[in-house]
Amino acid sequence: MSTRAPLIAGNWKMHKTIAEAESFIQALLPRVSAADGVDVAICPPFTALAAMVDSARGSRVQVYAQNMHQLQDGAFTGEVSAAMLAELDVDGVILGHSERRELYGESDRALALKVTAALAAGLHPILCVGESESERERGDTERKLRHQIQEGLGKVPAEQLAEVAIAYEPIWAIGTGAVASPEQAQDAAAFIRALLAGRSAEQAERARVIYGGSVNAGNAAELLALPDVDGALVGGASLDPVQFAAIVAAAQ
Ligand code: 13P
Repeated sequence: MSTRAPLIAGNWKMHKTIAEAESFIQALLPRVSAADGVDVAICPPFTALAAMVDSARGSRVQVYAQNMHQLQDGAFTGEVSAAMLAELDVDGVILGHSERRELYGESDRALALKVTAALAAGLHPILCVGESESERERGDTERKLRHQIQEGLGKVPAEQLAEVAIAYEPIWAIGTGAVASPEQAQDAAAFIRALLAGRSAEQAERARVIYGGSVNAGNAAELLALPDVDGALVGGASLDPVQFAAIVAAAQ
């Protein structure tokens, strides 16, 4: 048995106004108050972060942003910095989601800087990695994961690696209902952990590797029971407080 506390994070993407986020959190808090040993996070859009930090204060629910810029400030219209998130008392930030890589050209090079900027600001980063369907079909899954991990964590000192959670999110499983099989999820998570162990065996043992891609209340328990899967990054099913709480319960 690992000693890693499971992390269940809900990535809301571009969903929920502040009013909708408020009704979600009021419904969620009583449903997860007894989820001892599980780290729970919601990742609302920027506009709802401050309200969610206020509403979740004193509860077990942490609040993460979905992205940030790698630099402290500058002429970057539409961007926010790590310090701006930390000032809101946000706990962490998702970095390198495949939607940002694919739709907004986010590069491994920028991500390497984002990871260290988040850590320096006291934010817990979740670095997303994962292969496309064609990469898996070509047998390139491990090559892709190795590249993304090496690049994304390239500037993190070995003794700090466990401060970054890695989300294995196969692109073909995101929003498709085509969840990875337990064997696929375990193999990829174990491979990622082995990559971390190449830099520090001790940190690899402590680092959380979580799975994302069509996780729901029906399939969560099987995925969360896998030896190298330490939680879930949940998209669609995190929008409903009852479903999300059921996934949290499955992690207990
Ligand atoms: P779905 O759970 O909707 O497949 O989304 C997964 C995801 O992208 C979480 O970051």
